Amino acid sequence: MIRAHLTVDPHFTVGPVNRRLFGSFVEHLGRCVYDGIYEPGHVRADEDGFRTDVIELVRELGVSTIRYPGGNFVSGYRWEDGVGPRESRPRRLDLAWHSTETNEIGLDEFAGWLKKVDSELMYAVNLGTRGVLEALDVLEYANLRSGTHWSDQRVANGHPEPHGIRMWCLGNEMDGPWQLGHSTAEEYAQIASKTASAMRQIDPDLELVVCGSSSAQMPTFGDWERVVLGKTYDDVDYISCHAYYEPKGDDYGSFLASGVNMDRFIDAVIATADHVKAIRHSDKTINISFDEWNVWYQTRFNEVDKITDVSEWPVAPRLLEDSYSVLDAVVFGSLLISLLRHADRVTAASLAQLVNVIAPIMTEPGGPAWRQTTFYPFSLTSRLARGVALELKLDSPTYPTAEYGDVPIVDAVATRDENGGSTTVFLVNRSLDDAVSLEIDVLALGGVAGATALSLFDDDIHAANTLDDPERVAPRENSSVDVGEGRVTVTLPPVSWTVLTLD
Ligand code: AHR
Repeated sequence: MIRAHLTVDPHFTVGPVNRRLFGSFVEHLGRCVYDGIYEPGHVRADEDGFRTDVIELVRELGVSTIRYPGGNFVSGYRWEDGVGPRESRPRRLDLAWHSTETNEIGLDEFAGWLKKVDSELMYAVNLGTRGVLEALDVLEYANLRSGTHWSDQRVANGHPEPHGIRMWCLGNEMDGPWQLGHSTAEEYAQIASKTASAMRQIDPDLELVVCGSSSAQMPTFGDWERVVLGKTYDDVDYISCHAYYEPKGDDYGSFLASGVNMDRFIDAVIATADHVKAIRHSDKTINISFDEWNVWYQTRFNEVDKITDVSEWPVAPRLLEDSYSVLDAVVFGSLLISLLRHADRVTAASLAQLVNVIAPIMTEPGGPAWRQTTFYPFSLTSRLARGVALELKLDSPTYPTAEYGDVPIVDAVATRDENGGSTTVFLVNRSLDDAVSLEIDVLALGGVAGATALSLFDDDIHAANTLDDPERVAPRENSSVDVGEGRVTVTLPPVSWTVLTLD
C-alpha cells in the first residue's frame, strides 16, 4: 500500500469559502430546460410545468447561483422573445446548437423556478449579436421596480416584484471562433467596457463578469485576459474561466490529474489580472468567476451529436448527454478541490450544466429523474465545505503523467467551520492500482473527538448510473477511519474521492 501524510493546521488559511463557488449553469441547450427542468405534461410537474422531482434534486445538490440563459445560445438570443404572453412568443432558430427555440421559458419563468430551488440568478447578456442598448433594456426589465417602459412591461406581464439580479455576465466566450459575433480581444474589450459602464449608471453596485478565455488551450489565452482587463479593469469585478476535461484515449493517469491543469489555469489568470493591477497602480483586485467547468466528452459530441440540416432543427434534442462514470466523478471531485484551494480568488463558479446536458441530474420524458455519479462530490462538497479553506502540507508520492509530468497521487483540500468547530478534508486518490494509507496530523486542531468518511469508488471505474440502473453508484461509508493521539488515518481506495469530517 502507498503511504501519504497530510498536516492540517487551522492557522494557515487560504480564504473564506464563498457560497457562490457552488453555482451551476442552465442554458437553452438540448434538454436542459425543455424536458429537463420544465415538462408540463409530466406526472410530477407543478402548476407552472416545472418537474418537482427535478426541483428536489437541485435542492439536494445544493446549488447557490445559476448562470442563465447561455452559453453559446446567448450570443444569438433576443431576451424580449421570452417575456410576455406565451402565445405571442416567436419560435426562433438557435444557431449555436442547431435547434429550434420555442421561447416557452424566458427570464420571468426562470426567475420563478429559481425561487423554488432557492438559488440566485446570474444573467448573461448577449454581446455577440447585440450590444449596450439591449443589455440596458434587460437590466431595466429585470431590476427596476416600475415607472419605466421595460419595468412596467414586467409588471404588466404579471411580475410586480423586480428580479433583483446582482451578477451579470458580459457575453459568453467571445474569444471562440464558434461564437456568434466572435471578436478580437480589443473589439470585445470595447463593447464590454461600454456595456459595463452603461449598466453601472443604472446600478453602480452590480457585480459584472467580463469574458476570459474559453479555455487555457486557446491560442489567444493570456493575451486575451491582458488586453480585455487592460481596457475593462475599472468596469468589472470578475474575469471568467472555462474548462472542460476528458481523457485522451485511455490515458486515465493524465485525466485523473486534470486538477493540475485547473490549478495552473487559475494561477495564470490571477497572475495576469494582478499584472494589469500593478501597471494601473490600482487598489482593486479582480477575482475569478469559473463559470463553466466539468468533465465533458466533447470529442464524442463533435463526432455524432451536431445536427446540421436547417430544415430539421428540432426542439430540445438530446445533445451533450454524457453519462458519467466513477472515474469521471473522481476527476470532477478533484476539480472541486482545485476551486476550493483557490477560494481567496475564485469567488464564484458554475458547474456546466445542471440537467441532462453534461449534467449531474438526468431525466427521462414522462419518466424518472436520477443522480449521475458527479452529483455526489458536488452535493457533499457544497454541504460540507464551510467557513474557510485551509492551506495543507501534503507529502504524497508522485506518478508520471504524459500531460503534466510527475503529479502527486493524493490531492487534498480542507475547510474549517469556525462556528461548528468541524474540519472537513476532501481527498482524491489518483492511483489506478493502489490504495493509499493516509495519515493526517491533526495536533494543531487541538484534538479530534471523532471522524467519519464517505468514499466514492468502485471495482469497475467505468460504472455509471443510468435509466435502467439509477442507483448503481453512490458514496459509501469508509470504515477504515481511525482516530489516534493527534492523528487520523484513512485508507483511500484506488481511483476514489473521499470526504472526511473531523469533529
Ligand atoms: O456548456 C456547453 C458550452 O460550452 C457552452 O454553451 C459554451 O459557453 C461552452 O463552449
